[in-house]
Amino acid sequence: MTVSGKRILLIISGGIAAYKSLDLIRRLRERGAVVRPVMTKAAQEFITPLAVGALSASHVYTELFSREDEQDVGHIRLARDTDLIIVAPASADLMAKMAHGLADDLASTILLATDRPVLVAPAMNPKMWAAAPTTRNVATLSSDGIRFIGPMAGEMAENNEAGLGRMAEPLEIVAAAEALFAGTSSGDRPKPLAGRTAIVTSGPTHEPIDPVRYIANRSSGRQGHAIAAALAKLGADVTLVSGPVAIADPSGVTTVHVERADEMLEAVSGLLPADIAVMVAAVADWRVASSSDQKIKKQPGEAPAPILLTENPDILKTVGHHAQRPGLVVGFAAETQDIEKNGRAKLQRKGADMIVANDVSPETGIMGGVRNSVKIISADGVDAWPDLDKDEVATRLAALIAERLAAKTA
Ligand code: C5P
Repeated sequence: MTVSGKRILLIISGGIAAYKSLDLIRRLRERGAVVRPVMTKAAQEFITPLAVGALSASHVYTELFSREDEQDVGHIRLARDTDLIIVAPASADLMAKMAHGLADDLASTILLATDRPVLVAPAMNPKMWAAAPTTRNVATLSSDGIRFIGPMAGEMAENNEAGLGRMAEPLEIVAAAEALFAGTSSGDRPKPLAGRTAIVTSGPTHEPIDPVRYIANRSSGRQGHAIAAALAKLGADVTLVSGPVAIADPSGVTTVHVERADEMLEAVSGLLPADIAVMVAAVADWRVASSSDQKIKKQPGEAPAPILLTENPDILKTVGHHAQRPGLVVGFAAETQDIEKNGRAKLQRKGADMIVANDVSPETGIMGGVRNSVKIISADGVDAWPDLDKDEVATRLAALIAERLAAKTA
């Protein structure tokens, strides 16, 4: 779906990246979109309303209490009479206002008043992006249904600094808007993964020793199930391949139940090709080399027979190197030490685009618990998320997957 004929309200906030929003206006208009610009006071320190007005061929809205503008359209109509709101660049300050529902200027008031989809392209210094308050605000906005494009890694315009914080390029923002429209049915929240297929693995695997005994681990399946549900909410056609768990199948998702790692691999392979694979299952690394068909009997006076183990297939690695490799492959790394280093190594080894690494030391209570504290490791670097509910991790991860997939297939 293109942006042709779409009405786009472009909110420009303060930041050196504001110069790129001039090009964004051109890119949107040359694709047939109608752009109505709103500038914050700070934005006007970087670029002029004159330039924005000339490129957009529209009136530029800057004041909340402008008698002329209020008579003309009014801030509530500005917020509603549009198909999409793009905030580019989105400063840390404007995102903080959005997350907290502040409305002390035209831009923040529109963002509070709108019921239309909102796409945010953050741009800020990497330290501001990584700061705990910004991370919290991004999490809040994601769970409010706000979509993000970027920030990207790279050189900053200022101070020769590099890192995550550069605004997405205008064409990347256009692609994200197009992906968003592709998934939007009239009046709905955006469904950026509509038309995409996803495979999610979840839970532990049970590796039989004999018909009554098995090797297992403490995975509850909560995180994987929540991710399957979150991807489905964004419109993806999701199949969840779940090991034995005590929780319900998520709604809106097709669930396939398996027990052993080899069954899980077979189920996952049978679902290829797919657009997205998120391998969350805590697959047992080993299985019993030759499990017994009969219950192994205790022999009085005899030492117990040793259990010989053999390696299980690595499902993530198989998918990551598959001829029909999905466009976006995400793995998890449950570690108790050297989380980043091991996560990075895993990214390479498994052929994944993203590794979600978490510390499963017993004192964290993550394995089997309801909260999670993760680091997202990708070619762009490491992004440490705050301690969140597993459902919130899932919502944010699904949004990130939609964003990365849109950028990759743009
Ligand atoms: O190598 P490690 O078990 O730490 O890797 C964890 C990641 O690999 C998780 O995404 C997990 O679902 C996946 N995995 C797998 N098959 C295995 C082992 C791990 O898919 N046999």
